[in-house]
Amino acid sequence: KILILDFGSQFTQLIARRVRELNIYCEIHPFNKVPEVDQSVKGIILSGSPYSVRQDDAPHFEFIKHHKTLPILGVCYGAQYIAHFHGGEVLASSTREYGRANLDFVKQDNPLFKDVPTGSQVWMSHADTIARIAGDFEIIASTDSVKVAAYQITGTQTYGIQFHPEVTHSTDGKQLLQNFLVDICHCTQDWTPDSFIETTIAELKAKLGDDKVVLGLSGGVDSSVAAVLLHQAIGKNLHCIFVDNGLLRKDEYQSVLDSYQHMGLNIKGIDAKQRFYDALAGVSDPEKKRKAIGRVFIEVFDDAAHEVQGVSWLGQGTIYPDVIESVSVKGPSATIKSHHNVGGLPDFMKLKVVEPLNTLFKDEVRRVGKALGIDPNILGRHPFPGPGLAIRILGDVTPEKVEILQQADAIYINNLRSGGVYDKVWQAGAIYLPVQSVGVMGDERTYENVICLRAVESLDGMTADWCHLPYDLLAKISNEIINNVKGINRVVYDISSKPPATIEWE
Ligand code: XMP
Repeated sequence: KILILDFGSQFTQLIARRVRELNIYCEIHPFNKVPEVDQSVKGIILSGSPYSVRQDDAPHFEFIKHHKTLPILGVCYGAQYIAHFHGGEVLASSTREYGRANLDFVKQDNPLFKDVPTGSQVWMSHADTIARIAGDFEIIASTDSVKVAAYQITGTQTYGIQFHPEVTHSTDGKQLLQNFLVDICHCTQDWTPDSFIETTIAELKAKLGDDKVVLGLSGGVDSSVAAVLLHQAIGKNLHCIFVDNGLLRKDEYQSVLDSYQHMGLNIKGIDAKQRFYDALAGVSDPEKKRKAIGRVFIEVFDDAAHEVQGVSWLGQGTIYPDVIESVSVKGPSATIKSHHNVGGLPDFMKLKVVEPLNTLFKDEVRRVGKALGIDPNILGRHPFPGPGLAIRILGDVTPEKVEILQQADAIYINNLRSGGVYDKVWQAGAIYLPVQSVGVMGDERTYENVICLRAVESLDGMTADWCHLPYDLLAKISNEIINNVKGINRVVYDISSKPPATIEWE
């Protein structure tokens, strides 16, 4: 495996994804919590950072401990760090070094640059520059304005690169990473979905033996893939629970339950709609709605879990981005919404936790799901928030509003599918606005509610742009909703990006 030491760069996870795309296993660790480096570690990558090596509080790590014993690749801050604390000097750069640049010198016979041509485009993003290098450093690539774009410490396998090979704008970045990982670190590219499945199932079998596991399914990708993996490892000892909270999409409860049963999962569906509606009655504050839903879910789930005799484990579909320990950079990032129910596990369940996907990124979860033969409809499903339609009904939630929204949402999503755009959209949904407006139907004046359509493109939900859906598709959806959904006389489309707006309206 490869260790990636994180100095707080926004690109660290991207480095890991690129390494994984080359079918090589890697782990991200904070620079100040380096795990034991044993035989399994074939090389180390040092990430970029928002810090400057010239700052007093610049992050440090024991470079010398690994220099000459393992291949090391410093990227941006990582490269500056090694240069600065190894006899060279890093200064604030006089010209801005952001964006595209081209390598006008490449040392062709250097193994790091195998098959990377002179002229190759790279992506720079840094305020500091390596002004001077020590005598045992050799420059192996330069751009017009950055002389030390890449270096090697002569006679060692320590390299530094000033640009970011992990972003797609560095056109030969993947080749460069492959050169480092395969030719220099001698990693084998055998970390594939099939090998992951094989080893994970063996590990789960050894860990769980004849123990019973209870797992809450949501219909989403992660919990489904986690369930199928666990099912293949322990069969009927996996007890799945699927709660109908009355806030799912139209007909979703039944269709998801059916498809899970088809997969042979041991699953219990629980109709708890009324309990959720009761808890939500008269509550209009978004955070209070989330809390009420979270509380009832835990109660319902706990009741169901108690019915499984002798259960000792809780299965969860947690994925890698949720467990990577982040390096705090200046100023804690503000919690904007009480998202994702992190830490929502009640003490009284006292179960051990098993998380078979906690080393995988989302795209890897999908690849593993595909290799496991899971229905593409489940794997390709848009993200859907845990509190469901409750946070897409602005203000208080009633069963009547849920039904109206379910109808409008179903028309919307079905049209995205039949119009061939569903898979191009990252997430879409209809929102029920607490606004009434005047309309006219036949000779009658109407005074009814507004539905807003939202569709966004995104990579991870952190930032998003609104989708430029075709006008004729929007026209068709609007017509169908207004003609078929009683109580709605107006449809609007949300053209805000995130930031400054969020994806959901609550
Ligand atoms: P925002 O609205 O913050 O949403 O731009 C980003 C992503 O998070 C989802 N989301 C939630 N998911 N519980 C969840 O499980 C929540 O309370 C919640 N709020 C937002 C949202 O659907 C989008 O994918």
